[in-house]
Amino acid sequence: MKGILLAGGSGSRLHPMTLAASKQLLPVYDKPMVYYPLSTLMLAGIRDIMLISTPEDLPQFKRLLGDGSRFGVKFDYAVQPTPDGIAQAFLIGSDWLDGEACALALGDNLIHADNLSTLLRNAASRPAGATVFAYQVRDPERYGVVAFDADGKAVEVVEKPAAPTSNWAITGLYFYDQQVSDIARSIKPSPRGELEITDLNRVYLEMGTLNVEKLSRGCAWLDAGTPDSLLQAATFVQTIQSRTGMLVGCPEEVAFRMGFIDADLLRRHATQLGKTELGRVLMELAEGEQS
Ligand code: TTP
Repeated sequence: MKGILLAGGSGSRLHPMTLAASKQLLPVYDKPMVYYPLSTLMLAGIRDIMLISTPEDLPQFKRLLGDGSRFGVKFDYAVQPTPDGIAQAFLIGSDWLDGEACALALGDNLIHADNLSTLLRNAASRPAGATVFAYQVRDPERYGVVAFDADGKAVEVVEKPAAPTSNWAITGLYFYDQQVSDIARSIKPSPRGELEITDLNRVYLEMGTLNVEKLSRGCAWLDAGTPDSLLQAATFVQTIQSRTGMLVGCPEEVAFRMGFIDADLLRRHATQLGKTELGRVLMELAEGEQS
């Protein structure tokens, strides 16, 4: 399975911060925002990743992430000329995907959960259909919303409903089978002019192959698209890391734990990170002082 990291968009809710900088490169506590969804894709076991961003911002992502060897993965890059919708990722990435199954992670989403890796690997190993994750939120009208019948079966997906029939939001992490580019090609722009990921999910729902995993209340799903949620995400990461000494959303750590890089390379990264707390924790990990 391949993975797409979608890191374009206009970031208008974060103006003026995003007038001259990419939203997904803004800091979330001690790391660039994009590190969090990147770590999520890597935890799913995905090593072949295409990052899509705006023509202006793409060079900065290349500077940050390079060819991916730092993390034991391979990066390709593509431009989305204008923000015409999340599902457009599968048209832009169609040739690169070459008929393979694909996960999509939004560049401003952070998921933190117990046994996340198992959850993600299960989704990645499902041979057919799509898997999305639903999370209970107080403000479902901001998101794609999924409603369930009495048996817990997903029956409806609606993008930003004015009157939501459920408080289960669909998170910015999606797993699709080999049909995804063909299905993306079949959907039409919405009234707001975007190729909606919710419309793509609806096609899978109507085919009876949309698997919706409910994230439990022990999980945290945050998007960092507004000043408040950006601050909340930063505070969340700071709280977990300083309380437990464990890192959240650190691709160097994930790369090492997943066996994508060895202790020597991790040690070099730790040294490069200098006097940061991140560097210190990674060095401990490389020296085998962390479980
Ligand atoms: P949004 O937060 O819905 O949109 P945005 O980033 O443009 O921000 P705003 O609403 O404040 O103007 O996008 C969710 C994620 O998907 C985010 O990481 C940006 C990305 N995205 C693209 O890369 N291309 C697109 O065409 C769209 C709609 C979103």
